[in-house]
Amino acid sequence: HGPETVSPTGQPTGAEQARVAQSGAYLTTAQGARLYDTDHSLKAGPRGPVLLQDHHLREKITHFDHERIPERVVHARGAAAHGVFQAYGTATAVSKAAFLAKDVETPVFVRFSTVLGSRGSADTVRDTRGFATKFYTEEGVFDLVGNNIPVFFIQDAIKFPDIIHAGKPHPDREIPQAQSAHDTFWDFVTLHTEATHHTLWNMSDRGIPRSYRMMEGFGVHTFRLVNAEGATTLVKFHWKPKLGVHSLVWEEAQIAAGVDPDFHRRDLAGAIEAGAFPQWELGIQTFPDTPEQNFAGIDLLDPTKIVPEELAPVQPIGLLTLNANPSNYFAETEQVAFHLGHLVPGIDVTDDPLLQGRLFSYLDTQLTRLGGPNFGQLPINRTHAPVNDMLRDGMHQTAVHRGVAPYRPNSLDGGCPFLAGESTGAFVEVPAAVAASVKERKAPASFDDHFSQPRLFWLSMTPTEREHIIAAYTFELGKCYEQAIKERALLVLANIDTELCEQVAAGLGLPAPAGDSRLTDPGPSPALSQLGQTWPLD
Ligand code: HEM
Repeated sequence: HGPETVSPTGQPTGAEQARVAQSGAYLTTAQGARLYDTDHSLKAGPRGPVLLQDHHLREKITHFDHERIPERVVHARGAAAHGVFQAYGTATAVSKAAFLAKDVETPVFVRFSTVLGSRGSADTVRDTRGFATKFYTEEGVFDLVGNNIPVFFIQDAIKFPDIIHAGKPHPDREIPQAQSAHDTFWDFVTLHTEATHHTLWNMSDRGIPRSYRMMEGFGVHTFRLVNAEGATTLVKFHWKPKLGVHSLVWEEAQIAAGVDPDFHRRDLAGAIEAGAFPQWELGIQTFPDTPEQNFAGIDLLDPTKIVPEELAPVQPIGLLTLNANPSNYFAETEQVAFHLGHLVPGIDVTDDPLLQGRLFSYLDTQLTRLGGPNFGQLPINRTHAPVNDMLRDGMHQTAVHRGVAPYRPNSLDGGCPFLAGESTGAFVEVPAAVAASVKERKAPASFDDHFSQPRLFWLSMTPTEREHIIAAYTFELGKCYEQAIKERALLVLANIDTELCEQVAAGLGLPAPAGDSRLTDPGPSPALSQLGQTWPLD
């Protein structure tokens, strides 16, 4: 049964957890009746047939038959660890969240993942990586569900099923496993040029991280913080790895995918086991919460844009240390359920249309994946704050609720749970104004510029990094069957940079598109050269 341990999240691990599910010295049925044999089914004579009456055989096989649950519709392959987040207190000026106060230590559970491959796919494929953190704060669970790339493919969640359909293995042959060259992916990202920025990051070395321990993480969207005085600030969240950012080179990634498909999860678990606890600093870029929600010409609600750190420096607010491996992959890494709606007082969302759709999607998908509405009771998902809700019954209910009146107010249960006043620790949505407008299926004009930031990223690369990007596009596009898709991709590249386009075209053996056949770049670059106002925390 291993040593008696309680994980940093306060969840029982090892022997403690085993005792909940397994106790006593004898092997038993699920009902606790001791067994004398588990290797032979009950038969009519030693040569059978097997009798339907064998309840142990049926219980054992039936349970096994139902061991699998659906894998996540995206981010199916992951690895996770427990840890602790220690706040520096620097964020208290902008957020009243209790876990951000100086020296407060909060247990966390972090799951890293690839996006497109299935649960059994390889770790080192070229793909975006998930970086999801569950903070078990004293005010409830806060989930920061981010990626290792600071921008996203699309600007509106309504396109999420489309980009994922395009990125997942082809419907006919189920090739490839993860985001490597395939026509549907390149078809989508060249027809929706808002995907250019994210795709360029994927084709850079960021798409093949050396280790989960050496990845940055990004909340991507702009969030809204609110402080004790009610003042609001817009922010972007960043995780900065203490080990620095490192990538594999493509040949290493390919070899590792074959030789050791578990390369990243082995690296993470091994480092923690050896006591080399990975660490990240959490930081925020802060922006004034103006009605325009725009900073230095960049629309803060557009998730395909970054705000360069030269314009808004990342200000550290706390330290994350991962210090314990899960003791049961299924119970913890597989059953953990992250959700952007898991917010605590002091942290709120914005109107980013991608974020808004995510607020619906996670809970919805988890109802299927985790079998009904009670997965919040699973040990890994349980909040460390007291729970007094009026949710009752349902599939997989494990709580035995007291009382007869799960509604409020009532006069039968000897008093109701208190409602917190707005000033006594309740989560209160920031009363942000909503534009008086007509209903329309349209994006703002400020979402139209799809190329100036990819160009900025390309120009920031060293010659070696550029070589890698050219090689990645050439390799991936070289695997497309449709000539028209390759040609369209070259048009997109021409809008990023002429040299990039010409080099990839040469690698593909195709002519680079002529200057006048380029896609229309809808506008001038935002005023990136102008240093915007920053809000230092101290
Ligand atoms: C899962 C990040 C956009 C739907 C995940 C996970 C991460 C993530 C890290 C894995 C969570 C885990 O480890 O369990 C992001 C980021 C996005 C983004 C950073 C954009 C900024 C979207 C959008 C949708 C979506 C737009 C849908 C409209 C989902 C779903 C899952 C998921 C359904 C599976 C959740 C589960 O089964 O528990 N996402 N995602 N994501 N995401 Fe996203």
